[in-house]
Amino acid sequence: MKILVTGGTGYIGSHTAVELQQKGYEVIIVDNLSNSSIEVLDNITRITGTRPLFEQFDLTEPERTAEFFQTHSDIEAIIHFAAFKAVGESVEKPLMYYRNNLDSLMNILQGMIDNGIRNIVFSSSCTVYGQPDTLPVREDSPIKKAWSPYGNTKQMSEEIITFTSDVNDIYSILLRYFNPIGAHESALIGELPIGIPNCLMPYITQTAIGIREYLRVWGDDYPTPDGTAIRDYIHVVDLAKAHVIAIERMIEKKGKEKVEVFNLGAGNGFSVMEVIKSFERSTGVKLDYRIMDRRPGDVVEVWSDTEYANKELGWKAEKTLDEMTLSAWRWEESLAKHIFKGS
Ligand code: UD1
Repeated sequence: MKILVTGGTGYIGSHTAVELQQKGYEVIIVDNLSNSSIEVLDNITRITGTRPLFEQFDLTEPERTAEFFQTHSDIEAIIHFAAFKAVGESVEKPLMYYRNNLDSLMNILQGMIDNGIRNIVFSSSCTVYGQPDTLPVREDSPIKKAWSPYGNTKQMSEEIITFTSDVNDIYSILLRYFNPIGAHESALIGELPIGIPNCLMPYITQTAIGIREYLRVWGDDYPTPDGTAIRDYIHVVDLAKAHVIAIERMIEKKGKEKVEVFNLGAGNGFSVMEVIKSFERSTGVKLDYRIMDRRPGDVVEVWSDTEYANKELGWKAEKTLDEMTLSAWRWEESLAKHIFKGS
């Protein structure tokens, strides 16, 4: 059964391609490699023993995308990861974000309609909730005004999919991720930020390995127990497994509605300081950090109510924070060796 994974050489996409292949699905990846490396394909192959099909092109190109779907009208379901995701950059270049994230989605939906492809899983984010009024966040918690064009593209994409599903033979699952971190246990795939990382975990591991001088902790005066901001960190492999379950749910037509929404988090809130402590504990490496001012646009705290996903998908995140931070470190170490060997 053929599954299209857009953005499949990216961080979450590559882990999902691995899980799909290990469950016997045939994976076809489309990626323009704008934020990922072709070598990821070799490493997916090393882990699973199977090389995914791969096409390099930009899904914002309507003719090229239409041609792709005509050739592959036997695709059973799509998992759509391919998108820009840097919050700060989206504030600087809003149109680039709207064009990229929305044009690609609309081209994919058109391809589905034209070729009778019925199932799509969409990569959304807890950012759609903004700073929730009550915690933990449930799937029916209100959608708040977006804090960034990036967040807005996620909200708009969810709406575009919903309205398109309503009037077409299209079934959708919108997955709202909390904070994915960590890497595959093989340390062959992981997060590969280009340039200076924005996200916490790669910044921590790059500091520990000596690429960055020190970690900047964005604010310790939040109304939280230790003053640093709280997030719901989830291991990327747990997250990837939820995608396989979502695909099975669609293929077996077990969904309750045409458009379903699930939170994908571990259900625990951890502060920035707790992540640092976990990293030091699990790896034995001391981290240099400094407290800075708050980062504009950051919410104080957010974590998920996992009850609905647990019950409906029969899925639960299993890995502990220490397992997440250790696997992120193993990946950083393996990257360092790789660069050393290559130089
Ligand atoms: C945000 C979005 C998420 C989106 C992601 C994309 C929210 C709630 N979350 O994640 O939906 O997918 O961006 O990149 O809007 N931190 C530091 N020092 C650093 C980096 C981060 O202290 O160098 C802190 C941040 O202030 C934050 C926490 O670590 O409290 C996590 O930050 P990050 O990893 O950037 O993710 P979010 O901003 O939560």
